[in-house]
Amino acid sequence: MCGIVAYIGPRDAVPILAEGLARLEYRGYDSAGLAVVGRGGELKVRKSKGRVHECTGDLPARFKGSPGIGHTRWATHGEPSDANAHPHVAGTVAVVHNGIIENAEELRAKLAADGAELLSDTDSEVLAHLIARSGAAELEEAVRQALTAVVGTYGIAVVDAARPDRIVLARNGSPVVLGIADREMYAASDVAALVGHTSQVVHLDDGELAVLTAGGYRTFTLDARATAHRPAEIEADAASYDRTGHDHFMAKEIHEQPAAVERALRGRLDARFHTAHLGGLNLDPREARAIRRVKVIGCGSAYYSGRIGAQLIEELARIPADAEPASEFRYRNPVVEPDTLYIAVSQSGETYDTLAAVQELRRKGGRVLGLVNVVGSAIARECDGGVYLHAGPEISVASTKTFTSTCVVFGLIALHLGRIRDLSPADGRRIADGLRALPGQIREILAQEDRIAELARKLSAAPGAFYVGRVRGYPVAREGAQKLKEIAYLHAEAYPASELKHGPLALVGPGLPTVAVLPDDDLLGKNQATLGEIRARRGPVIAVAHTAPDPRVTEDVVLVPRSEPELDPILLGVPLQLLAYHAALALGHDIDKPRNLAKSVTVE
Ligand code: F6R
Repeated sequence: MCGIVAYIGPRDAVPILAEGLARLEYRGYDSAGLAVVGRGGELKVRKSKGRVHECTGDLPARFKGSPGIGHTRWATHGEPSDANAHPHVAGTVAVVHNGIIENAEELRAKLAADGAELLSDTDSEVLAHLIARSGAAELEEAVRQALTAVVGTYGIAVVDAARPDRIVLARNGSPVVLGIADREMYAASDVAALVGHTSQVVHLDDGELAVLTAGGYRTFTLDARATAHRPAEIEADAASYDRTGHDHFMAKEIHEQPAAVERALRGRLDARFHTAHLGGLNLDPREARAIRRVKVIGCGSAYYSGRIGAQLIEELARIPADAEPASEFRYRNPVVEPDTLYIAVSQSGETYDTLAAVQELRRKGGRVLGLVNVVGSAIARECDGGVYLHAGPEISVASTKTFTSTCVVFGLIALHLGRIRDLSPADGRRIADGLRALPGQIREILAQEDRIAELARKLSAAPGAFYVGRVRGYPVAREGAQKLKEIAYLHAEAYPASELKHGPLALVGPGLPTVAVLPDDDLLGKNQATLGEIRARRGPVIAVAHTAPDPRVTEDVVLVPRSEPELDPILLGVPLQLLAYHAALALGHDIDKPRNLAKSVTVE
């Protein structure tokens, strides 16, 4: 959600900023802009509504300089427009901002009364004016003073043409990562913009500022106390941020799932005791046995994967478990119990609602584990322990491989907790073998892509769809419906199959298809009865199943290999990703950048 990038060094900043913004575009894509300080000390600014390439594609040759800052926006305050695009400028100062300034209205009124000319409708513009109006000699002190007047969340980068030897950055709730290189420095909201330039990074903490000069960096807190950070090495290489042979990142990431699952499992399964080793959990066996309840929190697809995870934990470890959207959990003053294990799920590790829920839990003494993909992200750092997904960078706004990897990691956690409690060695072996088989089975599903694409074309002609599943299949249906909504913009509603007859069946008929999740488990007979009800109303059905249902119900079937029953949801979800992808493709949508959405939601 909004991306910021910054460079200071001997090279011209513009190509570096443009490339960085293109890499960050998945965070927001309704407007873009950059500001550089030219050799003569003049501030050059280009910003416009639209995609990054529209802003940076035709810059005049004289648009050169260093330092420089750039921004790609996902609008919160103020519609997408040239004026609302960042950077915002006051005098010689230019600012890019990710986050929300909550007291912006009050600050705008004060600044206007003081003679400031505010040119945009954004909350962010106040930052530029506050900094420009500070009497402080040093830019970092001016930024620090300005931030003490501000309530809200921010990741900012600031340049001042009058003080061109530095960039000042600050973080509170929105990520800022410094990239440390030889006689040149970078910063961005996400390492995606840094790979290829440096592998040495420093993650700023909330309430921290940084000064970058070409030769070094310094960090300190909002109350001006110096802090120390050693650079950490990042794992990702530049190639993992390219589409490499695929038309969309979503397609690439769907096809990366076998490898992502292999990485999630690597070194974590114990063939002797049929359990999983997850050192990062920081739970000794006695503590694990004392857990009375598990509560999973996350947002969107992370929440749906949490529902599958809760089910796995309840089935394999026999601990009562459930999942709740983090955005609800944090606002309802939940009872925080000492013998409940809380698990926060987040691909980005930056989703603000999930982060705030984790902070609230920690404040009340809750023990929180993180299932996070981005190493070193805010949620990963805030938790008491956790498990990294190691799925590799996920660029497409619609999550796919991290959804599957999260479910797999939940399988590992459930196995680990189960084997410490009452899961038998035989069942432990069964689940471990089941997990090991997943990458090959996902490959088998992906090999059916042409058939799934055919069904997706049919689906894309409908006005929307029901998705139904029962117990294990229901969260799979919810995630499937979410994918169709996000990228195909078709209304899709998931129901427990048994609930259709309690209301929604009224809508079923030839014009409204149902996508049915049909594992061959002990509920198959009940699911078949639901299909019978749909058939009686001549509703079209697309089935994702282990065995083909009665052809009188439907011949539109995707057959999925059987896993262990507890692990079936992991495989049943994969065809639904391809179904949504190909429906969106048939409808001609911008799949990696769906309208109104952004990859990581760092605002409330
Ligand atoms: C949907 C999707 C979102 C995210 C949600 C949480 O495809 O990607 O629903 O799952 O915004 O994001 P993270 O996992 O980064 O916390």
